[in-house]
Amino acid sequence: MSSLHTCLLLSLILFIIFVFLLKHKKNHATDTTTHPAPPGPRRLPLIGNLHQLDLSVSHHRLWQLSQLHGPLMSLRLGLTPALVISSAKTAREAIRAHDLEFSNRPSLVGQQKLSYGGLDMAFAPYGEHWKQNRRISAENLLNPKRVQSFRPIREDEVSKMVERISEAAAASRSQLVDLSETLLFLTASLICRIAFGRNYLVEPEPRIHVLRSVREAMVVFGSICFEDHFGWVGSVVDKVTGLSSKLQRVFVELDSFYEVMIRDHLEKKREQEDRDDFIDVLLRMGEDRSGSVHVSRDHIKAMLTDIFIGATDTNAATLAWAMTSLKKNPRVMDKAQREIRSLVGSKGFVDEDDLLSLPYLKAVVKETLRLYPPAPLLLPRETTGRCILSGYEIRPKTLVYINAWAIGRDSEYWESAEEFRPERFLDSDVDFRGQSFELVPFGCGRRVCPGASLGVVTLELALANLLYSFDWELPEGMKEEDVDTEATPGNTIHKKIPLCLRAKVKNYA
Ligand code: HEM
Repeated sequence: MSSLHTCLLLSLILFIIFVFLLKHKKNHATDTTTHPAPPGPRRLPLIGNLHQLDLSVSHHRLWQLSQLHGPLMSLRLGLTPALVISSAKTAREAIRAHDLEFSNRPSLVGQQKLSYGGLDMAFAPYGEHWKQNRRISAENLLNPKRVQSFRPIREDEVSKMVERISEAAAASRSQLVDLSETLLFLTASLICRIAFGRNYLVEPEPRIHVLRSVREAMVVFGSICFEDHFGWVGSVVDKVTGLSSKLQRVFVELDSFYEVMIRDHLEKKREQEDRDDFIDVLLRMGEDRSGSVHVSRDHIKAMLTDIFIGATDTNAATLAWAMTSLKKNPRVMDKAQREIRSLVGSKGFVDEDDLLSLPYLKAVVKETLRLYPPAPLLLPRETTGRCILSGYEIRPKTLVYINAWAIGRDSEYWESAEEFRPERFLDSDVDFRGQSFELVPFGCGRRVCPGASLGVVTLELALANLLYSFDWELPEGMKEEDVDTEATPGNTIHKKIPLCLRAKVKNYA
């Protein structure tokens, strides 16, 4: 391209940005403001605060900024006004007094693509379609009775995981178990059997592609997509950075996985788990033209995305963080193992009845979710109306991040907040499913996670059996303090360096 062409192109881009900004300013000039906007870091023209965020919206970076500007902080991401909530007090006020205004989801490019245009539950705008999806999932998959009915599947998959680790340990004393990978396979297999009727990931070929796509989807969700903040001008930047093609690749990979499962169900090819699963229910609703709910093929795939990604990544990440924290804190590891082993004795397996008598194990799970909530910024929200919060004015269509990671370390509520000390939960009635705002790993308000019951029982069962069946040793030459806690960027935080430990089978004979 000649330099004249480049000049013309640049002038055109600058002109469009100028028109954008003018329009944006005009919209705001017509508003009447009664209260100041929340404080925030200084912005640069055009890009706002984007230069302070390193191409991804990271809970840690937002927390650092909120240390300087307060628990209610304004940002501007290009043309998008944003708000960050970083304390239990402000989260409580926002959700108790203004739940409705904070219940919408923004229409972000990555999330729209992977949710088939917001046809799912997690990224659907607040409204009838979203309510309907929550109802369908609650009635057919996530209510306490259904969750209880999946107990045999959970126990079977966890015991298969224990067997796999035992076999590997017997084959070679020095072999390390990649716990991050093992746990991702466990949680993905579990949700496949629970919701989709069989484990579609037994074969290595789909397993590698699908699990890699789940991870990449989370990274895409957490990345700054320029199209979201600069319209089509930004979409050119996303093409150049490779974000658009990555998103397309993840979409195609997951879409073909869902197509295989749906085809299987239509052709009744699968080995039945002796019951109708979630895909059967959705397909039946799709065939029923007389009902009030119209379920299209894309709607089904959008719902499968929520369930598959929602259940796989969060649970696997939390389990890996639990094992990391325990390995760094041998006193806690020892206490948790003694509790489990003295209750279960030589029975050979911790079952779900045993979990009821393991208060310390439950406290370990809570403490892990406090320090390492796998979705540290929950899922982004968008305000639907104007409201006043702590004396500041919040405008409609503001992108909202609730920093659950910062809230779990809020020193106003948590003594020695950085310490991994499960004892803090033994005599405490702090709820972790959205009622107590100082602990919100599952979110809060109307958008609270509908899969919390399934998530918690999976975490407790898997962790209990890992601690019961094995003693865990560090690789040669490594000390407890060397186990790192660095996290990957993305919507779900994983350990950057996979957790690899040596499993020594515990002999109860
Ligand atoms: C350790 C386990 C889990 C954690 C920590 C977790 C965390 C979360 C969080 C933080 C949110 C956003 C809530 C908000 O915006 O306030 C969420 C939403 C959601 N989760 Fe989970 N989740 C877990 C397990 C599950 C499971 C097992 C499923 C389904 C099988 C699931 C399905 C969903 C769905 C569909 C939403 C969207 C809800 C909506 O927007 O209405 N999650 N989850």
